[in-house]
Amino acid sequence: MYKVNKNFLKLPGSYLFSTIARKIREYQEAHPDEEVIRLGIGDVTQPLAPAIVDALHAAVDEMASAESFHGYAPDLGYEFLRELIAREDYQARGCDIAPDEIFVSDGAKCDSANIQELFSQDNRIAVCDPVYPVYVDSNVMAGRTGNYDPETGTWSDVIYMPCTEENGFVPELSPYDPDIIYLCFPNNPTGGVMTKDQLQRWVDYANKNSAVIIYDAAYEAYITEADIPHSIYECKGAQYCAIELRSFSKNAGFTGVRLAYTVVPKALGFYSSSIGNASLHDMWARRHGTKYNGAPYIIQKAGAAVYSDAGKAQLKEQVAYYMNNARIIKEGLTDAGYKCTGGVNAPYIWLKTPDGMTSWEFFDYLLDTAHVVGTPGSGFGPAGEGYFRLTAFGSKENTERAIERISKI
Ligand code: MLT
Repeated sequence: MYKVNKNFLKLPGSYLFSTIARKIREYQEAHPDEEVIRLGIGDVTQPLAPAIVDALHAAVDEMASAESFHGYAPDLGYEFLRELIAREDYQARGCDIAPDEIFVSDGAKCDSANIQELFSQDNRIAVCDPVYPVYVDSNVMAGRTGNYDPETGTWSDVIYMPCTEENGFVPELSPYDPDIIYLCFPNNPTGGVMTKDQLQRWVDYANKNSAVIIYDAAYEAYITEADIPHSIYECKGAQYCAIELRSFSKNAGFTGVRLAYTVVPKALGFYSSSIGNASLHDMWARRHGTKYNGAPYIIQKAGAAVYSDAGKAQLKEQVAYYMNNARIIKEGLTDAGYKCTGGVNAPYIWLKTPDGMTSWEFFDYLLDTAHVVGTPGSGFGPAGEGYFRLTAFGSKENTERAIERISKI
């Protein structure tokens, strides 16, 4: 008789954004005349930039001709895209990252969920609290997190690093000796950032303790302030301890197109006489080769257009459009008496729920009274309780209407 992976059964309920989608569906069925504005999931709404659309069309034409047709993509990504990424995203910022340290994929969500496969079961993970749920859930599925306590909403073997108002939403160095540390900055969900000095302290800590940092930089395009690092490799020694995840979803509107990459430096790994050479780069390459057939040619060509002059100019405008929404949300809510943070270097605004409401109570209240959807902070972890996240990825019109409605209640 077959046996199931019992770790899946430990996961409570459904994935956060699936629960929210179900709640909206139920609400709409019960109130078909109400127009619900969605500022919940961080999904982009602007159409693809013209430079990207042109690249897609041209790549489709190539695929239609026997001379320029492409079958399987190289499993680590086309050289033309990896070279652009290395030059534009890293070398231009003084980071010594080479094209063959870049692994192109079809999404940072999958990469952030899959990367834990490189590590043995007995590693202890540390996450920021609140946290993007994928990091924890994927480790739960792998059996690395112990048992769930529904009272506290925590897993017994996970080290939670609270990110609160008191510490400026930046985790303090953990006294608990984690082996794998997940950091996401600019942060989802709080919109907080780490300065270069703060990040350097984490890099030094990881190198000193032989830990690895999984650094999710999916929102780096939204950084507006100086001294906020765009990549962890801006810090000294990061190539010995850090893997970086990047996405084309938020900077280029690829949520429905799917393209991302992961950087695994060749310097990352160790030699031990019992197991030999453990190069995380080689292990990830081996995994990619076995389990993945590469992001489509058409999509990688669209990705290359992100780095063209026209692409850069158009995407800068798109990011500015969303950041204007962030400003509208933050200013509007502050005027209405809410306490909010984020929205300066990230497309998320993190607000304190009023009158001591729980995050889910506020979710229901907002849906009922203003017909606006956000994301309950407690869905991201226990320290998110009493908070609520709004995304700047809506249209300007909807963002303004949502804030007007919220301000009225
Ligand atoms: C979010 O809303 O947190 C993000 O859209 C989720 C994601 O990027 O997968």
